[in-house]
Amino acid sequence: MSIRLGDDAPDFTAETTQGTIQFHDWKGDGWAVLFSHPADFTPVCTTELGRVAGLKSEFDRRNTKVIGLSVDSMESHHGWLPDIEDVTGNKLNFPLIADSDRKVSDLYDMIHPNADNTLTVRSVFIVGPDNKIKLTLTYPASTGRNFDELLRVLDSLQLTSNHSVATPADWRDGQDVIIGTGVTDEEANEKFPGYEAKKPYLRVTPQPGKEG
Ligand code: BEZ
Repeated sequence: MSIRLGDDAPDFTAETTQGTIQFHDWKGDGWAVLFSHPADFTPVCTTELGRVAGLKSEFDRRNTKVIGLSVDSMESHHGWLPDIEDVTGNKLNFPLIADSDRKVSDLYDMIHPNADNTLTVRSVFIVGPDNKIKLTLTYPASTGRNFDELLRVLDSLQLTSNHSVATPADWRDGQDVIIGTGVTDEEANEKFPGYEAKKPYLRVTPQPGKEG
């Protein structure tokens, strides 16, 4: 069954390169990114895992833990790790699940038989502090993901979970935001004094916490 936004993120116990992990326990009350890659010792995957390792301080800053997955074995994972460091300069610093029995892949619907019957596609799930699914992404094997976009989405998710705002197209942290449609003009005047109404339904204000 596919996983949709707002669903509970299924819990699981899995063997990883950092030992046995129980997902909800490991994640705690912070945020998590769970992402799959098709196979070890493949070019795009090598660049992806190195890139994510290089972004560790950015994920930490956002109180977010990262965990990767493929259906390859633990032995394969450990054999591949030196290549990732060699090519990208980044040592893997997050756990990688060895999902040989496809337990987690099936739980999260990461194998799409019409794309490839045996390998996981490039799935991404962002899970919130409440263990609910906040974002899903699915990329084909041939396209490496843009992990700056994941950080951008985390910024938006964390901002909009604390304030009654939404973020516009291509928004980046620090830029103006949109006042939520559930906020009346009266409430907006109180919460976001001086906001600009470009249309009655499109009201713009500086990002809360970054005004002035
Ligand atoms: C890659 O990571 O380059 C890749 C993995 C599986 C299929 C095709 C490409």
